[in-house]
Amino acid sequence: MKKRGARQNRRSFLGSMARGTVIVAGAPTILTESRTGARRTETLIGRPAPHGGRRSPNDNIQIAVIGAGGMGSANVNTAIRIPGVEVVAACDCYDGRLLEAKERWGEQVFTTRDYREVLARDDVDAVIVGTPDHWHKQISVDAMRAGKGVYCEKPMVHRIEEGAEVIKVQGETGQAFQVGSQGMSSLGNEKARELYLDGAIGELNYAEGFWARNSPIGAWQYAIPEDASPETCDWDAFVGNATKRPFDPVRMFRWRNYRDYGTGVSGDLFVHLFSSLHFIVGSSGPNRISATGGLRYWKDGREVPDVLLGMFDYPEAPSHPAFNLSLRVNFVDGTSGTTYLRLVGSEGAMDVEWTRVTLRRNKLVAADDVFAQAKGEELEMLHGERKQMLPPAESVYLAENDYWGAHYDHHLNWLTGVREGKPVVEDAVFGLRAAAPALACNNSYFEDRIVKWDPEKLSLM
Ligand SMILES: NC(=O)c1ccc[n+]([C@@H]2O[C@H](COP(=O)([O-])OP(=O)(O)OC[C@H]3O[C@@H](n4cnc5c(N)ncnc54)[C@H](O)[C@@H]3O)[C@@H](O)[C@H]2O)c1
Repeated sequence: MKKRGARQNRRSFLGSMARGTVIVAGAPTILTESRTGARRTETLIGRPAPHGGRRSPNDNIQIAVIGAGGMGSANVNTAIRIPGVEVVAACDCYDGRLLEAKERWGEQVFTTRDYREVLARDDVDAVIVGTPDHWHKQISVDAMRAGKGVYCEKPMVHRIEEGAEVIKVQGETGQAFQVGSQGMSSLGNEKARELYLDGAIGELNYAEGFWARNSPIGAWQYAIPEDASPETCDWDAFVGNATKRPFDPVRMFRWRNYRDYGTGVSGDLFVHLFSSLHFIVGSSGPNRISATGGLRYWKDGREVPDVLLGMFDYPEAPSHPAFNLSLRVNFVDGTSGTTYLRLVGSEGAMDVEWTRVTLRRNKLVAADDVFAQAKGEELEMLHGERKQMLPPAESVYLAENDYWGAHYDHHLNWLTGVREGKPVVEDAVFGLRAAAPALACNNSYFEDRIVKWDPEKLSLM
């Protein structure tokens, strides 16, 4: 078996636990005892001030947003917190969004319904693509070819086959192209990666993730603007290369429910879990994918299931052994609000969130070797039982107060790439490796088959 980072470094985790120095930012570790008597440590994790206030006047970056809806606008609001970043243009195919853009970011912001007008502008250095999924590939490719850096929302593509072109164009143009799975830039994901590499959970054998919602908004029944009409909406621009149909505001404003534009719960939500998992354990992805589920409750004309289960086989790779992954989304879940990613290994498990990692390690496993047990009992009879020093059963790593958050970190990483040409954390190859298994769930569910994927060659088999 090949050498593995986690396995190699197990001793370093045990060593640092013993020294009590698995600490970031010099924050103290607090040892507490829960009501059940379980011992646990809490450690704060942090990072230096986000930008230290330093920048030269030449560092200014002018950005535009294409698809200025919920996430496109949230992306702009985060990006412009970074010193030297200014928004100069916004594109959307619903006029209400363009009015909101001017209200939010100023009358001087150039607005248009046609994204090609944004790409033609010399005053735009980089663009945020916040459109529905079916537009991600084309706008990203056109933007890179026009010499712009790109932050493209997840999933990177609508169909797996579109990924190769994005990778090719990123390589040819050398543009800073970042996919928007912001969680992987979080302190929580970084801490989990550090713990994993230190061998904190031993040998990885299983991982699971879950997304539970139970509300109309959570299940994508968004409000349709009262003024939505063929006059206020550029329906043809919205539809693009998808199937031509008459104007339909429900399709336009609840696009996630329709396969022409969205990618179902797996493309929308599993993809975040893949990005984080791949970042933490250094994986290229699974090679065998199957999904099942159904439309259990939100029968509003949607074409995608509201309960979906995915199962994934990860082959052995340099940074991890072979393991299994199970993911679930449930939009009719009474426990609404639960989201987690858990990694399970031979010596413990960790629950990974963006601002917290909870590590549980099993107490020394009792030997089931009969001879060793008999010897142990013999010694105890002679000398009486000697008590042991126990490591903490649970260690919690928490982001320091005033942490700027994963979204800020992800944009800072991208805009540093735009500014200085440094590689970004979620480039097109990483983005496809996260998107492909999520999209393959749709192939599996709708075609009732197991999908084989080569995560190294990035091809369906
Ligand atoms: N990273 C995250 O946590 C996160 C969260 C939510 C959404 N997203 C992603 O962001 C994207 C947008 O999702 P949303 O919830 O903001 O949707 P949204 O409907 O609120 O916004 C999409 C906007 O794109 C516009 N649009 C559609 N086609 C266009 C075109 N050709 N040119 C210009 N504008 C166009 C729409 O009019 C709309 O205003 C999706 O890909 C989604 O997966 C990511």
